[in-house]
Amino acid sequence: MIVLGSDHGGLDLKNEIRKMLEARGLPCEDLGTHNGDSVDYPDFGIAVSRRVSEGSAEKGILVCGTGIGMSIVANKFPGIRAALATDVFMATMAKEHNNANILVLGGRVLETEKAREMVAAWLDTEFAAGRHQKRLDKIAEVERELKG
Ligand code: RB5
Repeated sequence: MIVLGSDHGGLDLKNEIRKMLEARGLPCEDLGTHNGDSVDYPDFGIAVSRRVSEGSAEKGILVCGTGIGMSIVANKFPGIRAALATDVFMATMAKEHNNANILVLGGRVLETEKAREMVAAWLDTEFAAGRHQKRLDKIAEVERELKG
């Protein structure tokens, strides 16, 4: 399950991404926003991040105007590795090296076709594990320390 969320600044791109996921036959749930009214990006960032953090969704995609606010809120959640990507290389590395479980995009900075390519790259790339797993383990460890 992939959960999607955006504010008004990411609405159009989030809708395009939902159509793309549906066309691929991937189970997804759109947690809003559902219209162009001005809303607060944390509300939707929290809804998506909570689902991924708790494990009821495997992955999430968040879109706001720049992607900055959504990445700040998402990375507050335990176990969330949210990656703000601006091109296909970054989206690829977000999975290959960081095993990002949330991809964050900026609706006001990306062309739709490029964003589709980025989402496809993130979905289709395998996590390389090995030395990268060791690095993620260090992040998980400090997260436990800071929480405890
Ligand atoms: C909303 O105007 C804008 O601040 C938001 O979409 C996002 O870019 C925040 O980081």
